Amino acid sequence: MYATAAGSVTYAATKVYYNRHPMVQSPPDPSKKTLLILGTGWGAASILKGIDTSLYNVVVVSPRNYFLFTPLLPSCTVGTIEHRSIMEPIRYITRHKQCAVKFHEANCTDIDPVNKTVTVEDQSEIKGKVNKSTLKYDYLVVAVGAENNTFGIKGVTEHACFLKEIWDARKIRTRLMDCIESAAFPGQPEEEVKRLLHMVVVGGGPTGVEYAGELHDFLVEDLVDWYPDLADKVQLSLVEGQSSVLPMFSRKLIDYTESTFKSNQINILTGSAVKEVHEKHIVIETSDKQRKEIPFGLLVWATGNTQRSVVRDLMGKLPEAQTSRRGLLVDDHLRVQGTNGMWALGDATFTKYAPLAQVASQQGTYLAKLLNRLGKLEDTTTTAATTTPDELIEKLRPFRYSYQGSLAYIGADRAIADIPIFGQTVASSGVATYLFWKSAYVNLLFNTRNQSMVTTDWVKKTLFGRDISRE
Ligand code: FAD
Ligand code: NAI
Repeated sequence: MYATAAGSVTYAATKVYYNRHPMVQSPPDPSKKTLLILGTGWGAASILKGIDTSLYNVVVVSPRNYFLFTPLLPSCTVGTIEHRSIMEPIRYITRHKQCAVKFHEANCTDIDPVNKTVTVEDQSEIKGKVNKSTLKYDYLVVAVGAENNTFGIKGVTEHACFLKEIWDARKIRTRLMDCIESAAFPGQPEEEVKRLLHMVVVGGGPTGVEYAGELHDFLVEDLVDWYPDLADKVQLSLVEGQSSVLPMFSRKLIDYTESTFKSNQINILTGSAVKEVHEKHIVIETSDKQRKEIPFGLLVWATGNTQRSVVRDLMGKLPEAQTSRRGLLVDDHLRVQGTNGMWALGDATFTKYAPLAQVASQQGTYLAKLLNRLGKLEDTTTTAATTTPDELIEKLRPFRYSYQGSLAYIGADRAIADIPIFGQTVASSGVATYLFWKSAYVNLLFNTRNQSMVTTDWVKKTLFGRDISRE
């Protein structure tokens, strides 16, 4: 028994040591094809994990040098989880591959599908003498995700906060505390206190609902202790254009969410589309065409996705094949229609699947396998001499999505879940579902380091409460 325990400890210690100190990698082999991956999100990270780097020269380009575990991002807006706990530097993945992988922190600003090149630009704050370059590729994977949809409504970008990236969560946390401290300023008129403490969320999809749930927890678990004079003046409203929130969940769970929100005193304004956004108020239009002004202190905008400009430009270059405005059209093997040697996945595409992490991640795993098979087949000179890459790909199995269920946190230690079991969808909600939600996401976190950081954050929050300092 002692020998087994000692063996396990040695194994764990060796794993931790090699995670921390990666081994020397083989250098890139110029005779291999260049596989260029755009992005470091769900789709790209999952390809990187599965790709055999001895088959290609892998190059990754992304403005973010880390992977972000988006399902726990709403928890960072109020400090339930600290933001670094859900970030994983991309080099923690690339440095553990057999052959060296190049990473360039840059935005891809243009894709030339004819000459097989991309333009990349360092758009970060600090730039060197060279900040724009052109890279050649043999194979390209477009995994750049999507950006926030404002539906062209003026004032959104200037006056609202989005919730997509780590800096969005940090901005929300700072603004929230700023609103509260400004409301506590001596002599603040009652009407202004009311406005500053009105937190408005636009969009009743899962992002808006999860954020509202987290904010509610912060108000009842922390604000009430540290700002006893203000706590009962805080109001939280969720504005949704459709007739209900969370249309992708089953009816039972929609009703459960709406009734939980009501009992948590979150105002749900369904059938109310935001038409104008100003510095201190929004204008909504109800289904009976009534217009109403709603003052706010903090405005969070969560109304879904639209395509990034680099993807839109690429679609513009392929007008015959790319006929949808909602994203790149791909075939069953995820090849971008109208191109050669180019694949796309995740939120950058328009397919029959919802824009979800589980879709992008499964597509990434599939694509890594496909590229590994292709690389091996191409290595076999006899096959490669007589067959084109596209003919080889046709022989490989197409992508198949396996739906793993939908989960969302709704606040007050309650979550909702639609879980597929033997072909049926089972709806589950409440505290037990919340515990399931927690364990599912801890398990899904990529490595022991992030798992321990998130678990520690939850323990810290329970023991000491959330940090209310304004950054
Ligand atoms: P992303 O993960 O967004 O990655 C895109 C990558 O491309 C990023 O690294 C980005 O920096 C990079 N990039 C951007 N522009 C460029 C450029 N010009 N050049 C190069 N690189 C670029 N889905 C679920 O299934 N379950 C959930 O619980 C869930 N929760 C979510 C919570 C929130 C708050 C949000 C916002 C989303 C959530 N989602 C969830 C959806 C999920 O995050 C997305 O569907 C998923 O991230 C899509 O993966 P992707 O790889 O296509 O894009
Ligand atoms: P969404 O597209 O799911 O929902 C946006 C909502 O905003 C819609 O219900 C829409 O009717 C509403 N809306 C749009 N314009 C409006 C306006 N002017 N006024 C009022 N309401 C308006 O977007 P969301 O929540 O940002 O999610 C994006 C993607 O990420 C989705 O595919 C979602 O499923 C996924 N996601 C999944 C999560 C989960 O599974 N737990 C969590 C968060 C996101």
